Amino acid sequence: MATPGRPGIDWEALRERARQLNQRAYVPYSGYRVGAAALVDDGRVVSGCNVENAGYGVTLCAECGLVSELVAGGGGRLVAFTCCNSLGERIMPCGRCRQLLFEHGGNELLVDTPRGVLTMAEVLPQAFGPADLAEVEAARGGPDPAV
Ligand code: THU
Repeated sequence: MATPGRPGIDWEALRERARQLNQRAYVPYSGYRVGAAALVDDGRVVSGCNVENAGYGVTLCAECGLVSELVAGGGGRLVAFTCCNSLGERIMPCGRCRQLLFEHGGNELLVDTPRGVLTMAEVLPQAFGPADLAEVEAARGGPDPAV
């Protein structure tokens, strides 16, 4: 059922997809499963689960798989995002993954949080992004010659 005031987004279907992906997580080190799902502006649903590694720092968050599916599947803009733990509860994407999601959804991306649906601008205020790079390049009249 669509959340009142946000017609067109089937949040329950997205949450169910995230719960399904949660069960596929590869978490031999933390034991903490994450499943993520998102609606794309062309109607696709992309998803991911966390994939850990013996080199702990190499771990892929669920959002990494989701974004990889987005780009590999032809790109597009993320419209609505949710992720959950193994209890099926909504969780917040980690700081790094907010940045990852921002790149592909911008300030308007709707994020399903434990405090309700918020915009990316609310969960990652004043985000650094592609516009910052473009602004300096435009001011300089082209790419930095040092590059
Ligand atoms: N994790 C995610 O997959 N996404 C997040 O946004 C938060 C953390 C994973 C990484 C690691 O496999 C486990 O949760 C515990 O940190």
